[in-house]
Amino acid sequence: RQNERESLYIILNYAKNFYQKQLNDSEEGQAIGLSYFRERGFSGDIRKKFELGYSLDTWDAFSKEALEKGYSAEILEKAGLLIRREESRPGDRNSPGYDRFRGRVIFPIHHVSGKVIAFGARILKSNAGQKANQPKYLNSPETDVYHKSEVLYGIYQAKNAIRQLEHCYLVEGYTDVISLHQAGIENVVASSGTSLTVEQIRLIGRFTPNVTILYDGDIAGIKAALRGLDLVLEEGLNVNIVLFPDGDDPDSFVRKVGAEAFKAYLKKASKDFISFKTEILLQDAGNDPFKKAALIGEIVQSIVKIPDVIKRQVFFQRTSEMMKVDEQMLITEGNKLLRKLH
Ligand code: UTP
Ligand code: MN
Ligand code: MN
Ligand code: MN
Ligand code: MN
Repeated sequence: RQNERESLYIILNYAKNFYQKQLNDSEEGQAIGLSYFRERGFSGDIRKKFELGYSLDTWDAFSKEALEKGYSAEILEKAGLLIRREESRPGDRNSPGYDRFRGRVIFPIHHVSGKVIAFGARILKSNAGQKANQPKYLNSPETDVYHKSEVLYGIYQAKNAIRQLEHCYLVEGYTDVISLHQAGIENVVASSGTSLTVEQIRLIGRFTPNVTILYDGDIAGIKAALRGLDLVLEEGLNVNIVLFPDGDDPDSFVRKVGAEAFKAYLKKASKDFISFKTEILLQDAGNDPFKKAALIGEIVQSIVKIPDVIKRQVFFQRTSEMMKVDEQMLITEGNKLLRKLH
């Protein structure tokens, strides 16, 4: 078992090098992959730091070379790099299957230790082989070394900065992480589109108790932020939230306004979870007293998830001020909920 995991790390590292070489040295990689990254404003240094690559727009450029080098079809498949050809399918009888990643730019996903454990691969409009209904990002499947729910993209590149600054930014996407690094913000990781998990929060918690969620400025992003927020509180971490203008994500916003204005925006727009919930939920509550009562209930629900008694107390106080309701009443309601939880 241990041996097999080691073999997976070796083939994944080989694949990473292969994709990097295709990006930088092949004609197709330069014409399509490199120019794509350049258009997105990714510098040479940043491409190296994240070990970005390119997979050729052919069926088996990668697996053919890997098989020639002596890697088995079994291990390629177990690493999520090769998809087996069904027996009945026509085509080259000598080839055991085809590459999972074809004609895409490649984002290696690193374990916190720096080992490559998976890949994310973005579709490119300029590739003829791309069909319309394919996903924007194709990711490695679950393997013996890749458990998506436990991984944060960028944690390896960010961990020192997170520890040093005692703070971690949490974004949605690969390119958000990379763009922020390029703007000089290195304490940033991505949940990679799935809803945040307890394992991911605990991974951040190994380095810092302070998290700021920077999700996309769209409905999906707000919903994900609201969900993530309670989970972070439950794990005993401190959470703030920054919302971006509708349609922007951290990557597009930092490119639009520049690094300095971006950092200023983070300071100005950062909200604690009570202000965030109040603002978001008050938008549809308006002056309706029933809706306002429901909103207060929502906030109390979040507060009772905080394990620390003193922090809870502080947030009851804050809610009382913000919502102009009696603090003792909030505490009583909170205690009722707590008794139900235990
Ligand atoms: P987004 O749709 O916000 O993409 O998904 P993005 O990161 O801003 O990428 P660009 O700027 O369009 O290139 C956020 C994250 O969700 C995951 C990826 O990790 C992505 O970075 N995702 C998204 C997928 O895994 N598959 C998809 O098809 C789409
Ligand atoms: Mn595991
Ligand atoms: Mn989005
Ligand atoms: Mn984006
Ligand atoms: Mn996005």
